[in-house]
Amino acid sequence: MTSSRFLEACRRQPVDMTPVWLMRQAGRYMPEYRALRARHSMLDVIRTPALACEITLQPVNAFALDAAIIFADILPILIGMGLDLAFVKGEGPAISNPVRSPADVDALRTPSAEENLPYTLEAIRLVRRELDGRIPLIGFSGAPFTLASYAIEGGGSKHHLRAKSFMLSQPDAWRRLMDKLVAVVGDYLVAQARAGAQALQVFDSWAGVLSPADYRECVLPYTQRVVERARGTGVPVIYFGTDLNGMLPLIRQTGADVIGVDWRIGIDDAWRQLGGDVAVQGNLDPVALFAPWPELRRHVDDVLARAAGRPGHIFNLGHGILPETPVDHVRRLVDYVHEYTSGGGESDG
Ligand code: CP3
Repeated sequence: MTSSRFLEACRRQPVDMTPVWLMRQAGRYMPEYRALRARHSMLDVIRTPALACEITLQPVNAFALDAAIIFADILPILIGMGLDLAFVKGEGPAISNPVRSPADVDALRTPSAEENLPYTLEAIRLVRRELDGRIPLIGFSGAPFTLASYAIEGGGSKHHLRAKSFMLSQPDAWRRLMDKLVAVVGDYLVAQARAGAQALQVFDSWAGVLSPADYRECVLPYTQRVVERARGTGVPVIYFGTDLNGMLPLIRQTGADVIGVDWRIGIDDAWRQLGGDVAVQGNLDPVALFAPWPELRRHVDDVLARAAGRPGHIFNLGHGILPETPVDHVRRLVDYVHEYTSGGGESDG
C-alpha cells in the first residue's frame, strides 16, 4: 500500500494520521547500522549504492515511518569542488585544505551532480525500486551557508569564527563562494528529483549562528535561489535549520513548502510567526527519547496538542536523532504518533 501522507502533509492536504519520520533515522543508534559500518567506512558506504540503499531501508523496515531519506551526507559535495574531506572516527568531518582566501574560492570547481555524486543518484534509483511505492523517498543537500561554514572552518566549529569573519571581511569572495555553492547545490537537488527523490530537504544546520540582519543580507538571497531551483522540479522542498527562532518570518522567505523547527520554541508559536500558508516539520527534543516512556509521551503529546491537527504538520525531531537513542523508544514514538492522531487512542503497555 502506498502511503503518501508525508507528501500530502508537505502540501498541507488533510491526512488520515500525522506522518512521522526522523532526521538521521539511519544511524548509530541501530545495531544493524553499526554492524554494517564496522565493515565499511562512512565514505565507502555513501559511495556504494547497494550499501547506501541497504542503510536507507534499515529504519524503514524496523519502524512504521512515513518517509525514507537517502543515506548520504551533506559534505561529499565538497569533494568534487576540490576539498579533501575525511570522516575521522570520534571527531567527525575534517577538510585538510579548507577555503581561507579569495584565491581558494576561485580555485573551487563546480562539477555537475552527475559527475560529482553519481553514486548518490544511483542509490536513489535503487531505493525507489526497492521501496516500490510503499513510502516516499526524500533527497537532500546542505544549504550554501552551512556548506560554506564547513568549507572555511575545515570541520565543526563552535563560534564559526573563520566562516563569519570571511563573510564580513571578504564580501566579494563570499558572494563568489555562495554563487558556486548555489550552482552545485541547485544542480544536485534537481538531479536527485530526476533520479526519483519525491521531496527535497535543505539542511542549514548552522544558519542560526547569524544575526537576522546578516542572514538577510549575506545568506537568504542564495538560499532563495536554491529553493526556487529545487521547487522547479515540482517536488516539495523542506528547509531546516536550528536556532532560527528569532528570525522565522525571514526563514519563511526562503520560499520552502515546509519549514523544519527545532525544540527551542512551541510549534504553535513557530507556526504563528511563519504564517498559516506553510507546512511545519519538527519539533521534539531528540533528548526526550532518552526519558522514561511516560515522560517521552508527555513531550510528544505537547507537540501534537500544539500542532492541533492542522493540515501540514509532519512529526519529526528538532534535530537529528542521537547515537545512543533507545531503539525501543523510537518504535513506540512512531506508533504512538500514528495511534494518537488517527483517533485510535493510546496504548499504555
Ligand atoms: O537522515 C538520514 O538518515 C540521512 C543521512 C544523513 C547523514 N548526515 C548521515 C550521517 C543526513 C541527512 C546528514 C546530514 C548532515 N551531515 C548534517 C545536517 C543535519 C544535522 O545533523 O545538522 C550535517 C551538519 C552533517 C555533517 C556531519 N556528518 C557531521 C557533523 C558528522 C559527524 C557527527 C556525527 O554525528 O558523527 C557526520 C557523519 C554522519 N553523517 C553520520 C551519519 C549517520 C555518522 C557517521 C558514523 O559514524 O557512522
